[in-house]
Amino acid sequence: MDGVVGRTGALDLARVRADFPILSEKVRGKPFTFLDSGASAQKPRQVIQAMVTMMETAYANVHRGAYHMSERATEAYEATRGAVARFLNAGSEREIVFTKSSTEAINLVAHSFGRGVLKAGQAVVISEMEHHANLVPWQMLRDAHGIELRVACVTDTGELDMDDLAAKLADGKVGLVAVTHMSNVLGTVTPAARIARMAHEAGAKVLFDGSQAAVHRQVDVQALDADFYVFTGHKLYGPTGIGVLYAKAALLEAMPPFLGGGDMIAEVTLDRAIWAPIPAKFEAGTPPIVEAVGLHAAIDYVTAIGLPAIEAHERALVDRAMARLPHIEGVTLLGRAQDRGGVFAFALDTAHAHDVATLLDRAGIAVRSGRHCAEPLHARFGVDSTCRASFGLYTTPEEVDLLAEALTQARAFFA
Ligand code: ALA
Repeated sequence: MDGVVGRTGALDLARVRADFPILSEKVRGKPFTFLDSGASAQKPRQVIQAMVTMMETAYANVHRGAYHMSERATEAYEATRGAVARFLNAGSEREIVFTKSSTEAINLVAHSFGRGVLKAGQAVVISEMEHHANLVPWQMLRDAHGIELRVACVTDTGELDMDDLAAKLADGKVGLVAVTHMSNVLGTVTPAARIARMAHEAGAKVLFDGSQAAVHRQVDVQALDADFYVFTGHKLYGPTGIGVLYAKAALLEAMPPFLGGGDMIAEVTLDRAIWAPIPAKFEAGTPPIVEAVGLHAAIDYVTAIGLPAIEAHERALVDRAMARLPHIEGVTLLGRAQDRGGVFAFALDTAHAHDVATLLDRAGIAVRSGRHCAEPLHARFGVDSTCRASFGLYTTPEEVDLLAEALTQARAFFA
């Protein structure tokens, strides 16, 4: 990746974009303007090739065979654990558990920590801006295990209401605070270190859903003092089918397993099983082997460019979008957080979000429309649905302008 970041710190976007084959595809003869990285990011050649090479030269099941190819595959799989630990600045590779997604990682915590460590009568605090992956598992835990579910409010500007969070923590009954590190609708980046401090002072553990944040910002789980941190491969320019749960070792030790099966046991009889040490205790069955190799390549890719350079690039895109989108007649933007990333949900006064998205698609612009797996947040802001544009490291300033122009035309069209 030498030379991708110039002396000014700016990304060489033409070089970055050349790494992503799909970006040179045409949509109905028009350039493909991909503004849906928040749903799933595109993949660079380096990730695609690493997965192909693995399948062509080093594929077998892991942790099982005494033969050479299985050892090679195991080494590649476990090397990803080391890469993830460094990426998050975890204290140890033992604190990294592979799952199939962020959603599964949160379900793992809700099931294992929720049922095995939290006691009935304790509370879990989430926020109004969670996507369903960090809401529904806690509702399920509440219904099955007698946990109280508390929801901290979001302000009109789309920030976490810290006074309300403090109030929700005040009685000392909260066992876990589980909140997003960056909203997939509002783009809001939450003050994670402060949230962790408040949770700990109230005797609670803290989980951050980093599905969006880990893509845009350098995450240091030790500096944040996060007890749990989750993210997913496919939003980080890696493959689908692999997610990550970081958890402090002492917590993983204390938690019962989530899924049972091969690989998570040390010993089994027909009567009982003894669990394998962490993190294997939480990785039942054949894991996402090729996907792990892809995730490793994705981490190498973004690390080589550098999260600070990616963040600076996206900050410039955010400033450009903020200078244009809210000023388009008839466009209402959800959320005006001070600290935000490149995710913009908006409604057009004259048309439904799906119609707007369909019209944008005619111009080759891909945005998500609907409620973005965050129905309660849309209800909070009194809108039925929105379009959402979300940026990646390959997004150009010209694409932001194109969106603004297409929206202006859409407004005129629907009026
Ligand atoms: N949570 C993902 C999104 O925001 C799927 O689109």
